[in-house]
Amino acid sequence: MKLKAKATARVVALQLLDKVLHQGQSLSQLKAQTQGLNSRERALCLELVQGALRWRWRLEFYLQQYLQKPLRNKDRDVQVLLLLAIYEITQLQTPDYASVNEAVQLTRALGKSWASALVNGVLRKCVRQQQSNSLPLPVSESARYACPDWLITAIKTDWPEHWPAILEASNQRAPVWLRVNLSQFETAAYQQQLDARGQRTQQHPIAAQALALEQPCDVTGLPGFAEGAVSVQDASAQIAAQLLAAQAGERVLDLCAAPGGKTCHLLELEPMLALVAVDIEAERMQRVQQNLTRTRTQAECVVADACNPDIWWDGVAFDRILLDAPCSGSGVIRRHPDIKSLRRDTDIAQLVGLQQQILQTAWRALKPGGELLYVTCSLLRAENQQQIAQFLAQQPDAAELVISPALGHACEHGRQLLPGEDDGDGFYFARLGKLH
Ligand SMILES: C[S@@+](CC[C@H](N)C(=O)[O-])C[C@H]1O[C@@H](n2cnc3c(N)ncnc32)[C@H](O)[C@@H]1O
Repeated sequence: MKLKAKATARVVALQLLDKVLHQGQSLSQLKAQTQGLNSRERALCLELVQGALRWRWRLEFYLQQYLQKPLRNKDRDVQVLLLLAIYEITQLQTPDYASVNEAVQLTRALGKSWASALVNGVLRKCVRQQQSNSLPLPVSESARYACPDWLITAIKTDWPEHWPAILEASNQRAPVWLRVNLSQFETAAYQQQLDARGQRTQQHPIAAQALALEQPCDVTGLPGFAEGAVSVQDASAQIAAQLLAAQAGERVLDLCAAPGGKTCHLLELEPMLALVAVDIEAERMQRVQQNLTRTRTQAECVVADACNPDIWWDGVAFDRILLDAPCSGSGVIRRHPDIKSLRRDTDIAQLVGLQQQILQTAWRALKPGGELLYVTCSLLRAENQQQIAQFLAQQPDAAELVISPALGHACEHGRQLLPGEDDGDGFYFARLGKLH
C-alpha cells in the first residue's frame, strides 16, 4: 500500500489492517508499528484495527449494500479504508464529519483522488442510516455473527447447542485479567492493595491467582509490576499451571512455552522446579526470558522444534509436562479478532498433524508414573478430544486422569471452557498419566 501522509491513528490503522488482511501478518506482531503515535492516537489506532477485524464480515455486508459494484482487486486499499470508516461511524463516538472527512483525505493520500466522491457518498449514506437507526439487517449468519462461514460451520458442528453463544462471546471485548505472583502476595492481599487505590477487581471461581480489573489501566503502573508481583494473563489460561500442580524438586518440561505466561505461573506456584521451557521461535523465547527476569523466576530456555527432542532433551525423563500446543486459537478470538481473517479451514488438519507429532514426542520424554497436561486455546474437537481419543487408542501406556475441579464442559476426553464463561477465554485441558 502506498500512502503519502503523516502517521496519524487512521493512517497507521489503514496500514496495519491492510497488512493483516492482505499479507497475512498477525496484529500482535504489527503492534510495534504504533510506537511512533502518542498514547491517545495509539489507542484509537488499535481500537480501529481491532474493531474492523472483529466486525469485518458485518462491515463488508454493509459495504456491499452501498456499492453498486464491488471494488476491483487493485483498489482493495480503498476497501480497507471504507471498512475502517464504516466501523468508526457505526460503533465509535467520533463525530461523523471527522470520520468522513478523514477518510476522503486518506483517499487522496492513497493517490486515488478518483475515489473521493465514492468514499464520500458511501460514508454519508452510512452516517444517515446510523443516525436514523436503519442500517441494513444482516441476512447471512456470516454478517450477523461477523465470522467466516467455514468457522461458523465448524463451531456449529462441534457445539450444536452452544454455537450462537460462542460466536456472540467471541465478539465481546475481553477483560484484563491479572495473575498475582503467589511467591510475592496472596491474591486477596493484592486485591486489597488495589482496592485501597480505588482499583476494583473480581476474583475467579477456579483460577486462584486471577483478578479481573473492572476498569482497564496501564498495568505497568500497578503495585510491584516491575518486580513481577503481577502479570497479565487470561483467567482460563491460568488454570493450566494450577492443574499441572508441579511439586518441589520435580523436573518439568514446558513445551511450546513462549511468551512464557504458563512458565512463570508454574514457577510462581512452586519455585523449586527444574523447568525446561522449549519454543521454536527465538524472538518469542526472548519474551519468556524477559518474563522470567521480571517475575524473578528461573528456567532453562531452549529454542527448538518440539518434534526434535535431540536438541531439548538430555535423556533424563520429566516428572511432568505441560504441552500448550500450537492451535487454531478459536477460543481466543475475542482477544485476537485477527484470527478470523488469518486462519483458513485447511489449517486445521495441518495443526492436528503437528499437535499429534508433538504429543507423541513429548510422551517419550515423560517418566513412568508422570503426568502430561495437554492444553489448547481451541474449541474444535479435532484439536482437542479427538486428538486425545486417537492418542489414547494408540498409546497403551497412557490413561486419562480426572480433572478436578470439574471445570467447564465434560468432553468425551478432557474438559472445555468456552469463551466468555466466567469471563475467561476458551481453553481445552486433558490430563494424561503414563502407566509404565
Ligand atoms: C499457545 S502458544 C504458547 C503459549 C505459552 N505456553 C504461554 O502460556 O505463554 C503456542 C506456542 O507454540 C510454539 N510452537 C509452534 N510450533 C512449535 C514447534 N514445532 N515446536 C516448538 N514450539 C512450537 C509457538 O511459537 C507458540 O509460542
